[in-house]
Amino acid sequence: MDSTSQELPRPPVHGKYDFRSNRPRQRKSEIIKYSIIAIIIIIILSLGVTFAVLFVSFKKAKVPNFQVKSVRVSRFSVANVLTDQQKVLSADVDFFLDSDNKNRLVGVYFGNMVMETGWAGVETTFGETNVRDYVQKSKGVTTLKVSTRSEVEVKMDVKQEDMKLNLSINGDLKFFSGPFKTKRLPFIVSCNNISGVSVHAACGFKLFTNGKTPDGKPKAQTPSQTPSQTPEPRPIDGGPTADESPPSPPVESFPPVKLTIQDKFVIMDNGILQTTIAKPAGFVTGIKYNGIDNILDTLNPEDDRGYWDVVWAPPGTPGTRGNFQRIVGTEFRVIIDREDQIELSFKVAYDPATGGKTVAPMEVDQRYVMLRGVSGIYAYGIFEREAWPAFGMPNARLAFKLQRNQFKYMAIADNRQREMPVPEDRIKSRVEELIYPEAVIMTNPIEPQFKGEVDDKYQYSEESQDIRVHGWICKDPPTGFWQITPSYEFRSGGPNKQFLTSHVGPSTLAMFVSAHYSGEDLIPRFAEGEPWNHIYGPMFMYMNNMTKGQDLPLLWDDAKERMMSEVKKWPYSFPASKDFAKANERVNVTGTFFVHDKYKSKVKGPARNAFIGLGPPGEAGSWQRDSKTYQFWTRTDEHGNFTISFVRVGNYDLHGWVDGFIGDFKHTTPIDITIGQNVDVGEIVFEPPRDGPTLWEIGVPDRLAQEFFIPDPNPKYVNKLYVNHPDRFRQYGLWERYAELYPKDDLVYDVNTSDYSKDWFFAQVTRPLDGGYNGTTWSVKFNLDDVAPDATYKLRVAIASASNSEMEIRFNKQKPTPPIFTTGQLGNDNSIARHGIHGLYWLYSIDVKGIELNKGSNTLFLTQTKGSTALQGIMYDYLRLEGPPKNTN
Ligand SMILES: *[C@@H]1O[C@H](CO)[C@@H](O)[C@H](O)[C@H]1NC(C)=O
Ligand SMILES: *[C@@H]1O[C@H](CO)[C@@H](O)[C@H](O)[C@H]1NC(C)=O
Ligand SMILES: *[C@@H]1O[C@H](CO)[C@@H](O)[C@H](O)[C@H]1NC(C)=O
Ligand SMILES: *[C@@H]1O[C@H](CO)[C@@H](O)[C@H](O)[C@H]1NC(C)=O
Ligand SMILES: *[C@@H]1O[C@H](CO)[C@@H](O)[C@H](O)[C@H]1NC(C)=O
Ligand SMILES: *[C@@H]1O[C@H](CO)[C@@H](O)[C@H](O)[C@H]1NC(C)=O
Ligand SMILES: *[C@@H]1O[C@H](CO)[C@@H](O)[C@H](O)[C@H]1NC(C)=O
Repeated sequence: MDSTSQELPRPPVHGKYDFRSNRPRQRKSEIIKYSIIAIIIIIILSLGVTFAVLFVSFKKAKVPNFQVKSVRVSRFSVANVLTDQQKVLSADVDFFLDSDNKNRLVGVYFGNMVMETGWAGVETTFGETNVRDYVQKSKGVTTLKVSTRSEVEVKMDVKQEDMKLNLSINGDLKFFSGPFKTKRLPFIVSCNNISGVSVHAACGFKLFTNGKTPDGKPKAQTPSQTPSQTPEPRPIDGGPTADESPPSPPVESFPPVKLTIQDKFVIMDNGILQTTIAKPAGFVTGIKYNGIDNILDTLNPEDDRGYWDVVWAPPGTPGTRGNFQRIVGTEFRVIIDREDQIELSFKVAYDPATGGKTVAPMEVDQRYVMLRGVSGIYAYGIFEREAWPAFGMPNARLAFKLQRNQFKYMAIADNRQREMPVPEDRIKSRVEELIYPEAVIMTNPIEPQFKGEVDDKYQYSEESQDIRVHGWICKDPPTGFWQITPSYEFRSGGPNKQFLTSHVGPSTLAMFVSAHYSGEDLIPRFAEGEPWNHIYGPMFMYMNNMTKGQDLPLLWDDAKERMMSEVKKWPYSFPASKDFAKANERVNVTGTFFVHDKYKSKVKGPARNAFIGLGPPGEAGSWQRDSKTYQFWTRTDEHGNFTISFVRVGNYDLHGWVDGFIGDFKHTTPIDITIGQNVDVGEIVFEPPRDGPTLWEIGVPDRLAQEFFIPDPNPKYVNKLYVNHPDRFRQYGLWERYAELYPKDDLVYDVNTSDYSKDWFFAQVTRPLDGGYNGTTWSVKFNLDDVAPDATYKLRVAIASASNSEMEIRFNKQKPTPPIFTTGQLGNDNSIARHGIHGLYWLYSIDVKGIELNKGSNTLFLTQTKGSTALQGIMYDYLRLEGPPKNTN
């Protein structure tokens, strides 16, 4: 099973950066690092100059020449995959690394590893694995063994005959030499023919040297898609990264923060960066950092570089429309001016005399904070209103626009980063506008590499739970600008609400409220006289740099590490506003979450990796339409245990859902949070909707349409980032593919012989007809060996997204027979147009009388009746027909 390492360019990284299962690096490694420094210092002091010289020469040589000659993967297992409701794939990996470490003093530390798998459409992420082995080995060391174990849940029904899997794990081996982190070493382990329940797999191992092409030249920052054929192993190219060299010095060693107040501007300077803000408006007009005079786009006017804005709507405004209002402060105040912290306020006060007609009837206090020794600025906004006129707020955000000629590489996830066009590439004469103006084909871009590609900001949306760090890289001087958001408690719509992130501009947004992927339901609406107070943020605008010639994506790695450390600091202690609840004003809610579907198992089982959260009091599932309050969510562990940390005082309901099961959970007892009282809810059990045994089912209940057939885009509409990418649904124009695949007759699915990953189009879209569009009728064919005419069957239809649709249900009889059920006008989330794979979740449970069904063959007709545009339709999550109730005891 041993295989020789090969040098290849960096692999494409697959899968999302998984914030949920990610465990930040242990403090222990800090301690180790400090101890090593201490040891080295002691050695230097006691043994004198000789070793000091050695140390210096080590520093110069940067790392021992560490060569991985062979790697053995000792075990992969697919555990209980056929018996468990929750399918768990576990990997035990032993790496045996051969080295030729020449340094007598310093050994090698194996850092953490992010492992991801690709498995016939299933994506799973092994979180970060901390390997605590530290070896202090001397000259001539040969083999280092590193062991790691990781488990992931697999959200797919796996049948015995499907057990021939290809599986690959890729990630980074990070080498540390004492306190110096060397460059990382990407690798990929791929296996095929995993055909047993628990097997030793034949695995091939490929190693990629960092940031170097086989000819040794530094690579462009776009990870190469094609492995090279170079057969010879090559030593790892070492050198401490700029970011995690010796541990950060104490804050006192940095210069104090300095505040300069001028007539029209205020300047905050902490020696690392200098920020200029217009007074009293609160526009960030300049950020000087890393020798760049202004990080922000100087081609833009001063109010269009770093600013807050809202779209607000007087009562009666139709749809998601409203008036755009840039937040222009009218009152400037210094809140804190100390050596360690400056906090400034730029507030727009509301004048009731306007009657809520010209500006939004609320006050916004824009706060900017600079801390000593911190490479960035923090921003938060206090939104507040009293007994003022009614209004709605379809959109609220903080935007930064960076130097367009410098920041050209965008990163929003490990596998979602690319060189980006400049704003000029989107002007009318250079593009062909597509179905809506945000989407264009770049016909004549300034950089020929983008010619023919689609650009559309919605291709860079993300779920709220994943929006923790995104931003831009400038090549020269190597500089990163990142927006880090440690918590999404203040954003609207809960963990899976999708928002824009970064896009051509170069823009980086902090979205708080939007109707994207949801529609009007997510517009916070305030009645006349309704008070409100809500804090958005703080967000951290983090800047980093490195020496020229290093691999630019290391800036992204550093930004991710910084994000993890900001998450650990949440809730921040520095905001001066009393409205921002500090750690001691928040408590934790713990419990164990079970799920029990009586038709699947006799006893309850742990709800693994389930969503559990506190939202406003309301019906089960109401959290997804809440946009005024704070929500606090987490995921359960493999035992169903959970801790929701740092919940603000208030009255909540405990909500949840479990992938693999339909429906929404709500705990019967409301949760009232008071200071100083942690809450343990004990065991809670979700009994998902279920009346009878499964006769057939289509898809996986996970609120996504991702498991269904997602076509390749029309070659005319490609965004290269999403070619061979797990998020293929983000390509433009997939809706047009339906009529191409089904030119005459609509989709027909046979529950016995069809495969939903091939035969169920991911969205029931419209079909072009006579210059307009027509709805479609999909047929599901199934057989019943027996029918009880007096009994009631149940059809479950879980919908992942709906846009201006109506779905009618008929069994065995087509129009004009009236449907047995209709949803009526349904949804406005626009997720088809915006390349989301879900919008809001809907679950319909429909009674089907036995007399509607035939003994023998049957057809279910799903008619989407509406047809006025190309962009309307339904994405199904899951369908199931249940037989009449049975005694399950
Ligand atoms: C699995 O991997 C083998 C060898 O790399 C390849 O020939 C085969 O096509 C792959 N199968 C699938 C389903 O990807
Ligand atoms: C796959 O693995 C099974 C069980 O280990 C083995 O019997 C079979 O021959 C293997 N097939 C191939 C093509 O290697
Ligand atoms: C580069 O980053 C380091 C670490 O944050 C910082 O101390 C230094 O000031 C930055 N360099 C420049 C030139 O801004
Ligand atoms: C809540 O949990 C966090 C860790 O998740 C811990 O740091 C904090 O002290 C806990 N708070 C209380 C009030 O127990
Ligand atoms: C986790 O859940 C198990 C099973 O309910 C329970 O016995 C255990 O005490 C829980 N552990 C923690 C740390 O809450
Ligand atoms: C348009 O769709 C409706 C509803 O599905 C259907 O009844 C009608 O036959 C369709 N028209 C054509 C010309 O296909
Ligand atoms: C599947 O096919 C078998 C054999 O033709 C039949 O007996 C069974 O009823 C079918 N099941 C469904 C759900 O159609």
